[in-house]
Amino acid sequence: MAKLPDVDSAYALTSPDEIKDLYRQWSHSYDVGFGESQGYQLPREVAAAFVGAGGEGPVLDVGAGTGLVGEVLRVMNTEPIDGIDLSQEMLDMAAMKGIYRHLVVCDVTEPLDLRDAPYNGVVSAGTFTLGHVGPSAIHNLIDVAATGAVFVLSVNQAHYATGGFEAVFEDLGAQISALQFRDVRIYDDRADEVHRNDIARLVIFTKS
Ligand SMILES: C[S@@+](CC[C@H](N)C(=O)[O-])C[C@H]1O[C@@H](n2cnc3c(N)ncnc32)[C@H](O)[C@@H]1O
Repeated sequence: MAKLPDVDSAYALTSPDEIKDLYRQWSHSYDVGFGESQGYQLPREVAAAFVGAGGEGPVLDVGAGTGLVGEVLRVMNTEPIDGIDLSQEMLDMAAMKGIYRHLVVCDVTEPLDLRDAPYNGVVSAGTFTLGHVGPSAIHNLIDVAATGAVFVLSVNQAHYATGGFEAVFEDLGAQISALQFRDVRIYDDRADEVHRNDIARLVIFTKS
């Protein structure tokens, strides 16, 4: 039997086609075989930081995948939630949960044409990571946000260091305010030893 995707295969992706192929294979087992078994807690950290920063709906979940962030946001009474993702199959799993208002297949590295923009909030867990999305996409997200919108974007720590994120946040200057960073563990102690202490940087800010 072919090996199911895992974190290491995801970090090694090099193109949108590879991303689509991997998440097509991963979509059905992602929540249980990855999320639960590895103690993937980043969606909860992102949602809690968003609500803690005063974030409100309508909110856009970027790289929504199977909807793990939406599940937590809904429990926290933050709605409506729309999701975008490159993978139709991941969004199909999210749709079955009945949490999201609209789910749209699109590439966040391209300008976004979203009928429900502008959003009062933008969240993202696990999408700004190795092999996935770099910092240039942040400009596309700012374009679909309302003035005063709260952003909470997780960025894998290693990706943050090497991917040019610091320069992009510096260049945004007065376009954003209340910029803060919080480093959190991506997984809990259930994770394989090699990733147990992986860190994501939550980048929290407001669109000016
Ligand atoms: C690790 S999963 C995270 C999914 C969900 N946010 C979570 O925390 O479980 C990364 C997601 O990013 C999506 N993705 C990768 N590149 C993308 C792109 N350029 N535009 C939109 N989504 C993308 C993938 O399809 C995948 O669903």
